[in-house]
Amino acid sequence: MPHEFSEFVQSCRQRVDTALDHYLPDQNDPTQLRAAMRYSLFNGGKRVRPTLAYAAALAIDTNLELAQIDPIACALECLHSYSLVHDDLPAMDDDDLRRGKPTCHIAFNEATAILAGDGLQTLAFGLLLRTNVTAETKVQLVEELAAASGAEGMVLGQAIDLAAVDQQLSLSQLENMHSHKTGALIRASVAMGALAAGANSQQLKALDNYAKAIGLAFQVQDDILDVTADTATLGKQQGADIARNKPTYVSLLGLETAQAKAAELHNQALVSLENFGESAARLRQMAEYIIHRIN
Ligand code: IPE
Ligand code: IPE
Ligand code: MG
Ligand code: MG
Ligand code: MG
Repeated sequence: MPHEFSEFVQSCRQRVDTALDHYLPDQNDPTQLRAAMRYSLFNGGKRVRPTLAYAAALAIDTNLELAQIDPIACALECLHSYSLVHDDLPAMDDDDLRRGKPTCHIAFNEATAILAGDGLQTLAFGLLLRTNVTAETKVQLVEELAAASGAEGMVLGQAIDLAAVDQQLSLSQLENMHSHKTGALIRASVAMGALAAGANSQQLKALDNYAKAIGLAFQVQDDILDVTADTATLGKQQGADIARNKPTYVSLLGLETAQAKAAELHNQALVSLENFGESAARLRQMAEYIIHRIN
């Protein structure tokens, strides 16, 4: 990773962590709810979606004050963390390990994990209203996040995923599942960062093509890592997809073709940014990072 880019990624992670701590402070809590929400937020996530929002905003306006994007970045991370807490529940993937630590329902209990997820999800929408943009832009941000995360986005993807256990999917069915369960929120991350920075419709279209490609690439790489990484590096149980007989890119195409698919999507992402100059350098590097990440 080039030095300048790794500094950018680091500074985005720091921004999100500081802002999340501000929005959800460690207060006296008679229940374990807040503790479970904070546990699920501050456990070493890569902060990919917030970083994409910052990078997209900078692609539109290089001089933008990044603080402007903080509430959006935090909203994305809250929504994503909620999806992970619920994804790990016994009724879903039944995973014990997340980000190198016991999953929320193991560290607390199932009911608290369900409620922590609920709390994180609603916090996400509340945070969007704290963005320093016009009321009209706020409505657009809420629309984006709702569409990406709900029954036409991530939640639908999760439902397709659960229904696909023990099933043989075609490549297009697999792509449809992936683009919903992972792609939708990644697309929204890019769109929301760009919207808050004042992107026009042509810029939004190009960025959306970029985001579609990296969104899919992100889940292809997630499937690859389930096979190639070790549990300690991954921070979640290696081989979990195979153990649960989930259709993945690797199970459908084999490892090498899955890797070629990730490379092809990376290339597609770069082509989508052709009309952007230096301002999109961070987005290009994020595309590279997404297919080369090791956890
Ligand atoms: C994991 O997401 C779940 C998927 C959508 C594939 P990340 O790989 O972004 O997880 P964290 O946030 O870094 O833990
Ligand atoms: C989860 O996909 C996507 C979400 C919406 C949370 P996975 O089930 O593949 O994610 P991991 O592998 O548990 O992180
Ligand atoms: Mg899952
Ligand atoms: Mg899972
Ligand atoms: Mg996975």
